[in-house]
Amino acid sequence: MTTKEKILTLLQKEDTVLSGEKLAQALSISRTAVWKAIKELEKEGYHFEHLANGYRFVSADRYDQAALAAALPMIPTIQIKDAVESTMKEAKIAALDSGLATPALFLTETQTGGHGRFERPFFSPKKQGIYMSLLLKPNQAFQELPQYTVLAAVAVAEAIDALLMKKTAIKWVNDLYLDGKKICGILSEATSDFETGRITSVVIGIGISFSIPQQQFPAEIREKATSLFPGEEYPTFSRATLIQEIWRRFFQLLAKLPDMDYMARYRQKSFVLGRTVQFTQQGVTYEGIAKDITNTGELVVETATERKVLSSGEISLERY
Ligand code: BTN
Repeated sequence: MTTKEKILTLLQKEDTVLSGEKLAQALSISRTAVWKAIKELEKEGYHFEHLANGYRFVSADRYDQAALAAALPMIPTIQIKDAVESTMKEAKIAALDSGLATPALFLTETQTGGHGRFERPFFSPKKQGIYMSLLLKPNQAFQELPQYTVLAAVAVAEAIDALLMKKTAIKWVNDLYLDGKKICGILSEATSDFETGRITSVVIGIGISFSIPQQQFPAEIREKATSLFPGEEYPTFSRATLIQEIWRRFFQLLAKLPDMDYMARYRQKSFVLGRTVQFTQQGVTYEGIAKDITNTGELVVETATERKVLSSGEISLERY
């Protein structure tokens, strides 16, 4: 057993306050070593109360396979790993297994090569974020596919709002913002069968910055990104609770199709509509007012001279 494990066992067993000195004596180590171990355990998702007379175990934000499986019966395969390159890769490799029960969820504590659109790196520090990909095997023509990215954006935004009791906003197409900074990115990738032209698999990747202290973000994104709990405070809910809430909402929306209510909710949460946006097409930069988001997820922008309908790509806004 490591020092960390021993400290954890003692604190969990006692369910009472143990001073740094008592812990140090029990394990024949220094009080500094106890303090360091406590700090490391906190980074791993364990919460302790720091009281005048010592430490008290409060809770742990850990993924529990059985608990997640019980809460998400609509997802027959759930894979949880400590570290992977990217959950997108895990899902895409798993998609080759014809015997795999889908939908399948790939969840990890950290990613060494997490990425977003345009192959941009996605900051994935250990246990401080939610990094997951859902694999679906729709076997439908592309135009028949549900708007998975939009459905996921609505499900994540509304799940966070409900648990955090704050209002997130969606930046077309797939970024979620809180207090003017990005907290979540969604990436959808599809694979088609060359012979039939049908979409055989869809992978929806979701990355949420959960409890990353603001100063821990890399300098280049520190001003633009934040997490749900960026300060010293303990999260008021666990990552597992948020994951359950997201997929519960996502599958509920999916079951209600062809009801388009989710599109109205997406528009309502969009902070882009009515604003001046810039975008680049074939090397030319345009500016215009974002007027609408169509039922198929395209952004309608009116420039001074024409009406542009964007189906993908990136837009920028002055303030964000
Ligand atoms: C974006 O910001 O453009 C999308 C970010 C998507 C990040 C998630 S984290 C889980 C999954 N694995 C990845 O490598 N990317 C997605």
